[in-house]
Order: sequence, then structure tokens, then C-alpha cells
Amino acid sequence: MTIVRGRGSMVWDDQGKAYLDFTSGLAVSAIGHCHPQWVEAVRRQAGELVHTSNLFRNPNQAELARRLVGYAGPGRVFFCNSGAEANEALLKLARLHGVRRSGGEEGKCYKVISAEKAFHGRTFGGMSATPQEKIQKNFRPLVPGFAHGELNNLQSFADLVDEATAAIFVETIQGEGGVNPCTPEFLAGLRRLCDKHNLLLLLDEVQCGICRTGRFFAFEHAGIRPDAIGMAKGLGGGFPIGAVWIGEGAAELFQPGSHGTTFGGTPLACAAALAVLDVIERERLIAHVGREGIPWFQALAGLAKAHPGQVRGIRGHGFMIGVEMAGEPAPYVAALREQGLLTAAAGGNCIRFLPPLNATAAELARSVEIFGAVLSARGQ
Ligand SMILES: Cc1ncc(COP(=O)(O)O)c(C=O)c1O
Repeated sequence: MTIVRGRGSMVWDDQGKAYLDFTSGLAVSAIGHCHPQWVEAVRRQAGELVHTSNLFRNPNQAELARRLVGYAGPGRVFFCNSGAEANEALLKLARLHGVRRSGGEEGKCYKVISAEKAFHGRTFGGMSATPQEKIQKNFRPLVPGFAHGELNNLQSFADLVDEATAAIFVETIQGEGGVNPCTPEFLAGLRRLCDKHNLLLLLDEVQCGICRTGRFFAFEHAGIRPDAIGMAKGLGGGFPIGAVWIGEGAAELFQPGSHGTTFGGTPLACAAALAVLDVIERERLIAHVGREGIPWFQALAGLAKAHPGQVRGIRGHGFMIGVEMAGEPAPYVAALREQGLLTAAAGGNCIRFLPPLNATAAELARSVEIFGAVLSARGQ
């Protein structure tokens, strides 16, 4: 299938067929396709200044950092180009914290505990933190120093903590692993565990952040604050940009020269991200996702109940929903596409629904209608 055009929640293929895009380019097109304000901001910046490198000050970057600190809390922000790069920066931060934790000695404290079924990206650090055979196969040996606990089983994480441990690293809601949310109790427990042992709590919000769950960051639902956050995807609304926020307790670990990237946070990438934040704020999308996500979830849960032979359950928050199927999700994803609704498979048996943050109540209702029709047709 070849997509050639997009507008709002809709895309069109090269045959002229229209689809409701509830993949949002895998949680990237946060404000829909070609939002006029985003297009205008990118166009204007492209005609003014695109790139300077980090040798010079860049007012868009300063403004974007200021806005992200406003959401995350006091701290500092590093800009890069993707989710994997954001996570690499978090893993390097863990190493720096490990050196600090072992009194300046290198190589003693470097272990990072991540979660089973996690997905943190395709770079060597990201892959090593991703305990999935399909991701790691044929790329070993991986980066040493990773251990994996069971999501939402605090004891399994606590059992792995030792003198060599520097950080705990989890997605607040696992995306590729099948939309598996950390419970608020689990996140609060990880926070306590990290405080007790002087470990960094690193959250990967690459997929679940930037308003996707009805809060700017998904961890806000749990009322905790991590030591650092990785973000990307929705931040640029389609323009590649990643970012790492580091709270005050760890913000000084990176010093000039200890990390960097040529392209990170160009004036153009930051203009795109600022336009996304402007639209989120102006169109009150945090409240919109929180409000519209509830009846939508209930309607999807109603379908799950009506089709227990095909649907096992439904998980997620706001506009990040996973429907666990009883069997292979691929035929359903194909049938939904045939009926004009784009979704994405995840984590074995799951169908992921990731509408743009400004999808309307009517568009959400339409997705339920199409899914219901597909379930009825396939259930016969
Ligand atoms: C939670 C999470 N972390 C990291 C990544 C990697 O991001 P990127 O593909 O931008 O490198 C992804 C991508 O799907 C993701 O979902």
C-alpha cells in the first residue's frame, strides 16, 4: 500500500482510496497530517534558517527546552533525532551516574534493569535493553550490563538490584510489546526502590509521551517524577526530533564534550516541535484526549464483550489503546484496512489504535463502527 497524501486524521493511497489513519505513523503524526499551523511554521523556518550545528546558540532550541521543562519539571534538555538516540543518551546517563555512585570509579556500577517485553530501539544500547529474540537475533554480542524484570512485578526488579546497578529503565506504557501499561503502584514502587538504592529512574516515553494518554507524560497518571525521560515520535509531529529531559539531580552529569550530535535540535526541527506544542495547547488536546478517550475505550470494551471468541481484552490509556485478540491480529489489521481504517499490530496478538491527538469524537466513533463490522463479519 502506498500512501500519497494526508490531511488531519485521513490519508489517501495512490489509487485515491481514503483511510482513517489510526496508526498516526506509529504515534508520530500527533496533530494529524499537515496541520495548517505546523505546515506554516515549518515552511517559514525553512525559508529563514535550517541548521547551524551546536557551535552556536539556537533560540528555537532554547524555547523548546523551556517549554519541555515546563511540562517535566526543573531540569535540562538534550535534543537528538530519534527515539533510539534519546534512549542511548539515557543509557549513557546511567553510566555517568554509576561512576558517581561508585565514588568516581569507572566500570564498577553500570547495570541497567529494564522490563521483559520492552522495546527501546534498534541501536546497540536500545537492543540490549530490549529482551526480545526477534530484535536481538544475529546481532550478539550485545552491550553488557542489562538485566530484565517482569513488568508490574516490583519484587522481580528489587531482586535484581545490586552494587553494580545504576538505573531502572522502563516504558511507562509498553508500545511495541503490546500496549502494556505500568500500574501506578508499580511506578511508585520503582521510584521508592530507586530512591532507596540511589539508582536513576529512567522512563522511555518515546511512544506514550507528548499527550498521547491524556496527560503530557504518561507517568503523570501515577503522580511520580522520574530522574530522566526519553521522548521523540509525537514531539515533531512528523519532523524527526528526539529529546531527553534530565531532572536537577542528574542534570550536571553530562558536561560539555561528554555527549553530542550534529543534527540534534536544529532550528527547523525545533520549529516543528514548537508548532506541535502550540497546537496541543491552543486546541486543548490534553483535555480532549482525556475526555474523548473514555467513551471510546468503553465502546471498544463493549465490542470486546460482544465478541469474546475473538477479543481477549483491551488495554491502554487515552489515545493509546491495544486490543488483545484471541488469535493472529494480522488478518484483522488487513480487514480493517480494507474497510478504510489503518491500525498496527503489536506484541504478538495485539491490535494498536493510535489516533491523532485531535481525532474528533465522530472519527473515534467511526473506528468503533468499522471494528465492530469487521468482528461481526469474521465471527460468522
Ligand atoms: C517506546 C519506544 N522507545 C524507542 C523507540 C525507538 O524510536 P525510533 O524508532 O525513533 O528510534 C520506539 C519506537 O517504536 C518506541 O516505541
